[in-house]
Amino acid sequence: MKILLLGSGGREHAFAMKIAQSPKLTKLYIAPGNAGTAQCGENVNMGVLDFDAIFDFCIQNKIDLVVPGSEDPLVAGIYDYFQEKANNGAPKILVSGPSAFAAQLEGSKDFSKAFMQRHGIPTAGAFTANKDNLEQGLAYLRSLPAPYVLKADGLAAGKGVIITESLAEAEATLSEMILGRTFGAASEKVLIEEFLKGIEISVFAVCDGKNWKMLASAKDYKRIGEGDTGPNTGGMGAISPVPFADEVFLNKVANQVAKPTFEGLAAEGHPFKGFLFIGLMNDNGDPKVIEFNVRMGDPETEAIFPRLKTDMVDLLTAIASDGIETLPIELDNRTAATVFLVSKGYPGTIEKGKKMHIPMVEADCTLFHAGTALNPLNEVVTNGGRVLAITALGNGIEQAKNSAMKMAELIDYEGKTYRTDIGLDLINYQKNQTNG
Ligand code: AMP
Ligand code: GLY
Repeated sequence: MKILLLGSGGREHAFAMKIAQSPKLTKLYIAPGNAGTAQCGENVNMGVLDFDAIFDFCIQNKIDLVVPGSEDPLVAGIYDYFQEKANNGAPKILVSGPSAFAAQLEGSKDFSKAFMQRHGIPTAGAFTANKDNLEQGLAYLRSLPAPYVLKADGLAAGKGVIITESLAEAEATLSEMILGRTFGAASEKVLIEEFLKGIEISVFAVCDGKNWKMLASAKDYKRIGEGDTGPNTGGMGAISPVPFADEVFLNKVANQVAKPTFEGLAAEGHPFKGFLFIGLMNDNGDPKVIEFNVRMGDPETEAIFPRLKTDMVDLLTAIASDGIETLPIELDNRTAATVFLVSKGYPGTIEKGKKMHIPMVEADCTLFHAGTALNPLNEVVTNGGRVLAITALGNGIEQAKNSAMKMAELIDYEGKTYRTDIGLDLINYQKNQTNG
């Protein structure tokens, strides 16, 4: 099997590593890739949205399967593009991701909310405002208790959600997002949403359009500072599995969210193929959906994939060609703790090009490159805000966390920054459960 993987983050390095471990692989290309993916296959200098170039490359190199890592190519319709080429007589190349229609679950918060309402999927109440119904939107906002949640409808690189305690600020922000086009076309429509209380968790499922299976749970640590303080980032770490996501809770997620989502899309004529990322709040034991993503999460992938025993090429092929029903999803029972090393100043302005010293990696650890590059001397240097993810497996969160932190101390570069409290809230949660 010849595979082209699209993307360049830590998530894609995790995909590349798992794909490269499969005996079914004959050749792996990654576009554009990073210094880590270069160790698993051949990096190709191609943008993930350049469908013409991607297609030509696939034909020239006899690619069997394209694996999109991030949402951008999916929302832009890479699945449909390859489908149309095949309909017009080109060789059939599999794409392990959803169609543009199904990708609207992530690409449009308005679509996603209306879909959930249509199919009775538990989620926060909401109103979609635009320039023509702004007064109604403001009235809806005033009817809600604080805090206020505003979401740009379209993709906004993870920055489109604003949460504020102040009604005056929420009103001003709503008007500015729509009329001032804060996020361009993405905020022509804005969702005003009820605030959900509880603990946030990410749950993943896979579907081939007909059959689906739950994959795993993870918790993402989004804020830059210890104790979950400071601005949001692309993710500072993750833990998988999440202790409170027990069988009862995950069954609720399966029956109340995953099942109606996959069946609902199929019934609407747009079956979902790919990874579904269910971002949800655990509201006293009941799941409430915050958002859907139509791909794996980053850094959740870096925590989940080291636990996954199922052959990755088998999994991706099953997604793309109706094989999920007979494919066993097998996970290591140990806990994975992922800590992200980032550049000083992240998520603000950062400096790149800092030479990295990476010592021997401990047996229970795996490193995933994100913002790294090779300099002309072939040395690994920093090349972005989030630099490198370290995942350790252990018996329980504490052991996994301690191993990951030990490795984090050993890696060195100027401006190295990371959170030392990844998983600490869950360790305390477990202590409280046992004590009381
Ligand atoms: P999203 O881009 O939809 O994942 O939103 C970013 C973050 O905002 C989420 O990860 C949550 O922490 C928070 N958030 C979004 N919607 C809500 C909500 N309705 N209630 C509480 N927090 C929310
Ligand atoms: N971890 C959040 C995301 O991948 O969107």
